[in-house]
Amino acid sequence: MITIAEPETRPTGQDATDKWTNERVTWIHYWTPTLLSFRTTRYRAFRFTPGHYARLGLGTADNLVWRPYSLVSAHYHDYLEFVAVLVPGGEFSARLAQLRVGDEIAVEKACFGFLTTPQLAPGRDLWMLASGTGLGPFISILRDPAQWEAFERLIVVHSVRHADELTYRDEIAAMPDEALCTDARATLIYIPIVTRDADATELSDRIPRLLADGRLEAHAQRPIRVEDSRVMVCGNPEMARELRQLLATRGFATSRRGAPGQMAFEKYW
Ligand SMILES: Cc1cc2nc3c(=O)[nH]c(=O)nc-3n(C[C@H](O)[C@H](O)[C@H](O)COP(=O)(O)OP(=O)(O)OC[C@H]3O[C@@H](n4cnc5c(N)ncnc54)[C@H](O)[C@@H]3O)c2cc1C
Ligand SMILES: NC(=O)c1ccc[n+]([C@@H]2O[C@H](COP(=O)([O-])OP(=O)(O)OC[C@H]3O[C@@H](n4cnc5c(N)ncnc54)[C@H](OP(=O)(O)O)[C@@H]3O)[C@@H](O)[C@H]2O)c1
Repeated sequence: MITIAEPETRPTGQDATDKWTNERVTWIHYWTPTLLSFRTTRYRAFRFTPGHYARLGLGTADNLVWRPYSLVSAHYHDYLEFVAVLVPGGEFSARLAQLRVGDEIAVEKACFGFLTTPQLAPGRDLWMLASGTGLGPFISILRDPAQWEAFERLIVVHSVRHADELTYRDEIAAMPDEALCTDARATLIYIPIVTRDADATELSDRIPRLLADGRLEAHAQRPIRVEDSRVMVCGNPEMARELRQLLATRGFATSRRGAPGQMAFEKYW
């Protein structure tokens, strides 16, 4: 059983409101000069479902810039974790690049998103298709032991331009041996895809092309079919659009009120 820790953190700044709290940055890890993960303290009443995103605010109280970021941490961690790319010329990215341990960051109390497994009809295989930082919500889902019981297979596909952008690669590989996941029902299949460094990974094409011509399923040795596969897609909006079309031709539908679907999408821009 997992106990949700009650962290020591409280709203810290005088400018915290009923909508958001000021948290403190406790850890920063740069994967590349423009790709980082960071952790913050967690307001004790902050609740989310793995796959959700929250809005983060950076700047001074009278000049906060807000952007949505997916939660990477597990729902039971006493901190919040995020992964972010620094976009050239981006207003939030410029502020994020200056972030240091000990700095304040505003976190909206409410969380949102449709990329959660309760939104989907039950299935046997959960496919998580990500580009770039779109892997983040899937890490939170993978860190939830309940998902390892809900599915027979957890299949993570992560497409990045260069090999050093394969964030969380070691953690994903080690997950099946984690104490929380031993004896779990699910098998993990991890498929990294590097698209711009020749021969860095077995597959090196974009995900929609790999799905369209059958190479993705052949590589995973699992079919993607509406009867028992559930598919989540996160990241590049053009990739999401192409995958949505491809999956729709196979009979997949997104969830509607009262009718859980077989696929879900989160577009990052
Ligand atoms: C629901 C949701 C969840 C998000 N979660 C994350 C997350 O977990 N991590 C994260 O890094 N970003 C995430 N984003 C994007 C994030 O909110 C910002 O847009 C991004 O960090 C850049 O902010 P900016 O102000 O610097 O530039 P913006 O003006 O917001 O963006 C400028 C341009 O940068 C590109 N871009 C923006 N975000 C990304 C990205 N993540 N990967 C590749 N290109 C991008 C797009 O071309 C965009 O038009 C999410 C967006 C949405 C809508
Ligand atoms: N990553 C870098 O080296 C780099 C360097 C400087 C600036 N930036 C900026 O940083 C931001 C984020 O870049 P990113 O590399 O994280 O995100 P990205 O451009 O979305 O690329 C991530 C992965 O998604 C793939 N992809 C792109 N478009 C796709 C589509 N329509 N369908 C399917 N797959 C698709 C890419 O393949 P492809 O390789 O085939 O595109 C890559 O494997 C961008 O604004 C970019 O301009 C990135």
